[in-house]
Amino acid sequence: MSEQRQVAITNLSKTYHNQGCDVPALENICLSVMRHEILSVVGSSGCGKSTLLRIISGLDTEYTGMVTIEGKKVAGAGRDRGIVFQEPRLLPWLTVQKNIEFALQKGNREERERIIADHLALVGLTGFEKAYPGQLSGGMAQRVAIARALVNRPRILLLDEPFGALDALTRLKLQKEFFRIWEQERTTIVMVTHDIEEAVYLGDRVIVMSDRPGTIKKEFFIDLPKPRDRSNRVFLRLKGEIYREFHNDLG
Ligand SMILES: Nc1ncnc2c1ncn2[C@@H]1O[C@H](COP(=O)(O)OP(=O)(O)OP(=O)(O)O)[C@@H](O)[C@H]1O
Ligand SMILES: [Mg+2]
Repeated sequence: MSEQRQVAITNLSKTYHNQGCDVPALENICLSVMRHEILSVVGSSGCGKSTLLRIISGLDTEYTGMVTIEGKKVAGAGRDRGIVFQEPRLLPWLTVQKNIEFALQKGNREERERIIADHLALVGLTGFEKAYPGQLSGGMAQRVAIARALVNRPRILLLDEPFGALDALTRLKLQKEFFRIWEQERTTIVMVTHDIEEAVYLGDRVIVMSDRPGTIKKEFFIDLPKPRDRSNRVFLRLKGEIYREFHNDLG
């Protein structure tokens, strides 16, 4: 196996069993994620994107096929992987600071405070340390979840629609910030998004999934220098091609 293949998924299928009914969610997924790569995953609602992320994260181990990270079979969640769920999932009884600290397992008090302050600044939430999740907007809560996923400097970051709840401007700002973080750390990222422009802006590769049960329909390599110019001709062409693949029934 190549050194560069950090995540290797072979013949992955997943069926949910719901009140006596089988719900096939993923079918025969074969996929590798390279070290330092940003892989964008697009596909329509219900096609299995969150299921795929949960399986890579180790939170779901009920599947057939093989999923390995750095050559080892995924047996459960680990701190080498950070995940941002579709919804923020903060603990409502803890402040913003404590929610992040809860995830942060290293350093003395001073170091922890500095790490938390740095990450809150990164997501534009300096001053909200003592706020409770119930006092935040949806977008602010999601930014706390992003900060929480980053504090342990994971080797793989799994993002499920991380910017979905944000207004357009904050979304563009965070996409840029994300690129900056990636440039510093070169963290491998698997990012699910509904936003094709976001997929092309950040991704080295974009995979388009079919409707449920999710299979990989097509992959696009985005061989453009970063940070990317959204008005670049090739950028716009790729965006159009992916859009057509995504909505090919619309012609
Ligand atoms: N716990 C569950 N029990 C039964 N079926 C489930 C469960 N979770 C997901 N499913 C089904 O599996 C399919 C894939 O779900 P998943 O959440 O992975 O989709 P998704 O691509 O993330 O959708 P969205 O874009 O809306 O978030 C869906 O059809 C869903 O109904
Ligand atoms: Mg989902």
